[in-house]
Amino acid sequence: MSERSIGVFDSGVGGLTVLKQILQLLPGEQLLYLGDTARVPYGSKSPATVRRYALEAAAFLVHHQVKMLVVACNTASSVALDELAERFRLPVIGVIEPGARRAVSLTRNGRIGVIGTEGTIKSQAYTRAIQSLDPCVEVFAAACPLFVPLVEEGWLEHQVTRLTAREYLQPLLNRNIDTLVLGCTHYPLLKGVLQEVLGEQVQLIDSAEATALTVAECLRAENRLRVVEPSRARFFVTDVPERFQRVGGAFLGTALNEVEQVVLD
Ligand code: DGL
Repeated sequence: MSERSIGVFDSGVGGLTVLKQILQLLPGEQLLYLGDTARVPYGSKSPATVRRYALEAAAFLVHHQVKMLVVACNTASSVALDELAERFRLPVIGVIEPGARRAVSLTRNGRIGVIGTEGTIKSQAYTRAIQSLDPCVEVFAAACPLFVPLVEEGWLEHQVTRLTAREYLQPLLNRNIDTLVLGCTHYPLLKGVLQEVLGEQVQLIDSAEATALTVAECLRAENRLRVVEPSRARFFVTDVPERFQRVGGAFLGTALNEVEQVVLD
């Protein structure tokens, strides 16, 4: 079982932030990554549609005999995690719980901000996860839909991105948050601008980083760790690979040479 791959899926390139963290932490693992690029974005779609897409993406990876499923997409984790865990008999890890846990352990004043796509924020999945860990913590959430296209445009330090961040984050600053959960795959790339706008007194929680730690813990507990280096990742997409390769290369920091286009049943 430990020799099998870890399956990771996302709506597109964003989940590469999670894949990158897993590879850094677990250099012996093989990964299969599926980006549902034909149907991205998930963040503006209804929960029923995202659940259907997530089930199809997960089924593809399970068919490839993965030992674990990582739902790298925050929107899909928000609305489809329970159903995926029920449907497939293997460990299913989402990004919400790990990010929530880290935020609760680090907040000093019990006031946590959460940012994500419209779908993630509407679902209130982070709020529920945080308050089930500590009911006394107050959560202030804001949808930031413009961040995804800005990141994909590569405008990580651009003035437009800085202005957009100010607009989105000021209401959270007014609530005196001391911790902000980056509840979307793309947001770790904006850490520089977000920290600048929020100031050093607000700590950023990278859900991708927290999720990689949970993946490691879970594999260790189940005795499924693969320790023989080198690691390897295979990439699948549902649209033509060109854009995924171009934008994804920037996310991963290495070239994505071999990407296969597939059809999901
Ligand atoms: N991957 C999505 C998420 O983390 C962002 C992109 C999308 O809307 O599909 O919520």
